Amino acid sequence: MGTTLAVAGKGGVGKTSITSLMIKALIEDGKRPLLAIDADSNSNLHEVLGIREPRSVGCIREDSRKMGEDIPGGMTKDRFMEYQIQASLEETKDLDFLSMGRPEGPGCYCMANNILREVISRLTTNYSHVVIDNEAGMEHLSRRTEEEVDHLFVISDPAPRSLRTISRIVELIEELKGRVHHTHLILSRVKGSPEDLPENTRKEIERLPYAPEAMIPFDDTLVDLDLRGEPLLKIPPDAPAYTAVKQMLKNLGILS
Ligand SMILES: Nc1ncnc2c1ncn2[C@@H]1O[C@H](COP(=O)(O)OP(=O)(O)O)[C@@H](O)[C@H]1O
Ligand SMILES: [Mg+2]
Repeated sequence: MGTTLAVAGKGGVGKTSITSLMIKALIEDGKRPLLAIDADSNSNLHEVLGIREPRSVGCIREDSRKMGEDIPGGMTKDRFMEYQIQASLEETKDLDFLSMGRPEGPGCYCMANNILREVISRLTTNYSHVVIDNEAGMEHLSRRTEEEVDHLFVISDPAPRSLRTISRIVELIEELKGRVHHTHLILSRVKGSPEDLPENTRKEIERLPYAPEAMIPFDDTLVDLDLRGEPLLKIPPDAPAYTAVKQMLKNLGILS
């Protein structure tokens, strides 16, 4: 069973960016095979990884629902789903990629979902590391409770409004009862040194359920890549945000 890393946090705080930098660090450390899952319905993880228009599990699910009884002869629904999920995996030189697509609609029946969950957790056992980019409200994480997460990175930028959402997220995590093994608070897009943080920010940090374990600096190279529409995997090896992400993973014993 591989190591599963996931991110959570309000929209726009830097989840997808940090996810992609963690993926780059894992690739460079030779952590293979690697699976990246985009579980955010407003997904764009594929773009920062340089993958064009991936298929998604959401689509498959709809198709297979339409198919109903048209499952190829002799195949159980379970086998059929497994086959379809395998078929929706994007394989690149460095990693496999799976997009969950849109959340389930009202017409979606539970059996398919249960099978899907099972198939996905079975799939993740084939990898050394699995990295999941979650949506802001953690809906996926709370629904897909069978997925054990070894390290959950709860991310916030230094804005007091973002910091206040952390407590709610931490409560949600506690409801997941032991399925999340380690939770780490991460401050992202930090300008200057920690002492330079505005007074309001420092007050909110003191109120957090635990102290932030890492600070990812505001990084112009990341903004530049974004503006040019380039994959974040192209970030220079000495870029401050990337260096900080690598150090964080080293401190946790995830990187060698
Ligand atoms: N360390 C950073 N330095 C500068 N800009 C950043 C940093 N992290 C994220 N950003 C920018 O913030 C915006 C939101 O980041 P993103 O990773 O898409 O957030 P989320 O996935 O949480 O919605 C993007 O424009 C991204 O370029
Ligand atoms: Mg995102």
